[in-house]
Amino acid sequence: MNKAWWKEAVVYQIYPRSFHDSNGDGVGDIKGITQKLDYLQELGIDVIWLSPVYESPMDDNGYDISDYMAIYSQFGTMEDFDEMLGEAHKRGIKLVMDLVVNHSSDEHRWFLESRKAKDNPYRDFYIWKEGRQGKEPTNWGAMFGGSTWEWDEQTQMYYLHLFSRKQPDLNWENEALRREIYRMMTWWCDKGVDGFRMDVINMISKDQRYLDGEKRGAALYGDGSPSFMNGPRVHEYLQEMNREVLSKYDLMTVGETPAVSTEEAKRYAGADRGELNMVFQFEHVDPEGGEFGKWTTKRYRFSKFKEIMIRWQEELAGKAWNSLFLGNHDQPRSVSRFGNDTPEFREQSAKMLATFLHMLQGTPYVYQGEELGMTNIYFQDISQYRDIESLQYYKELTEAGLLSKEHMMACLAQYSRDNARTPMQWDSSRNAGFSQGEPWLEVNPNYLEINAEDQLSRENSVFNYYKKLISLRKVHPIVTYGSFCALAPEHPAVFAYMRELGGQSWLVVCNFAADLETIEIPKRFLAPDSQLVIGNTERTSLTPSVELAPYEAFVFSSPAVTEAGV
Ligand code: GLC
Repeated sequence: MNKAWWKEAVVYQIYPRSFHDSNGDGVGDIKGITQKLDYLQELGIDVIWLSPVYESPMDDNGYDISDYMAIYSQFGTMEDFDEMLGEAHKRGIKLVMDLVVNHSSDEHRWFLESRKAKDNPYRDFYIWKEGRQGKEPTNWGAMFGGSTWEWDEQTQMYYLHLFSRKQPDLNWENEALRREIYRMMTWWCDKGVDGFRMDVINMISKDQRYLDGEKRGAALYGDGSPSFMNGPRVHEYLQEMNREVLSKYDLMTVGETPAVSTEEAKRYAGADRGELNMVFQFEHVDPEGGEFGKWTTKRYRFSKFKEIMIRWQEELAGKAWNSLFLGNHDQPRSVSRFGNDTPEFREQSAKMLATFLHMLQGTPYVYQGEELGMTNIYFQDISQYRDIESLQYYKELTEAGLLSKEHMMACLAQYSRDNARTPMQWDSSRNAGFSQGEPWLEVNPNYLEINAEDQLSRENSVFNYYKKLISLRKVHPIVTYGSFCALAPEHPAVFAYMRELGGQSWLVVCNFAADLETIEIPKRFLAPDSQLVIGNTERTSLTPSVELAPYEAFVFSSPAVTEAGV
């Protein structure tokens, strides 16, 4: 298998608004990040993925960009950015930018021009359509509720926005737009950034027929996704982007691609495709919703989750590279979702999930606070939420009488994006040490028990467990390059697998349940030269049949590993 630095790396995602506020205005900022680089170096991560810091009206917390080559003033200045980049590089940490080019803000100069007149030179930078007998051009529902089409008085036409109406979609059919995007990317690469995480990049090519989508059950709108997910020209565009920009630098690229199959992932990230290094797939984190998508109170189903994870490991092996994540700024906290966030099991299950994820084949992503086992917030009142998606759907679904307010609050408690966005918990001082001012989103009151300062000082903390896991990857190539083989695929509560490289095997066993579970151990790990690599209990040896503690996880090596790696 071809070696690459981005395969060996561990990535840490920073959501700047919620990471660290250096000037007391209640909003995290770039200087705040620079001040915490030593913390990240201590953790041992290699790459930062920075959620958007560009100029923005903040309709969607920066995923609505009004100037791609400027920094949002509350986050700081371009000098602050350059300083952060330099300081990160000094510590051997690379920086990957969020690239949001499916849409811009409606306050971007291009859009302000575009909406002025049908013959404006920027008109075709966006997607304008005539209505159908006074109605929207298609019946598609937008990702944040409402229609995907917004009527514009000035020129009496509709524009397309797959997300909020303040996020008009860019028209990738237009070569002049594509050139501008590549020019902007080149500018960032020349500055020295180390790659891009590409926001909803599989939505940039739209089927030019603009067909209505299927309406399910009581849903208010049709599902337009077959017309814009993995659209007809998306690979052509990415190959062009690769030729024009990506191939000229040594970058890490990861595409955010909702609703991709393994087959499609191989097209985006296949080693021989000249597109991207890897994609984020979402099968394993897509809630089993019904007609209201993610608005459900159903918890995940372990058997399905396991089937999905095994399939992605097996089908991408040797062909494309997996990205590995259980949380990000759009997802609930992983320990609340896949583990157990009660005081009894929180740390244990957070370590188990980390073991599970970091030992798979692929590049692991740590979402800020995950290394502390931060949890969902469980807000009691809708006024506590800030996220546009949560607020818009709450209004739309309750006002239409489709879901009761109580039920919608229960859905939000599980799946609102604000769960991931509560401020980082640094210490036990006021506002968890995140800000001297009033935080833009409430701090989780459990910061007194869950915070970085406490965990740095405690040897058996979640933080120190992550640190050890990450360091194993640096020493043992088997973690990155070893093959994957699932064990006991039918077990209803245990996820077990083997990794193998050059005569060495590692056994990874993770109990996803709060109960005792039994698992049979392959013979070679019973031999005297088999050895514990890492685990979250006192266990140091194995028997043919092991009774696992709740949320127990361990990794054994056969034969034993050496300090210098094998
Ligand atoms: C991606 C981002 C999300 C954002 C959306 C629109 O899914 O991760 O936060 O709201 O795209 O840009």
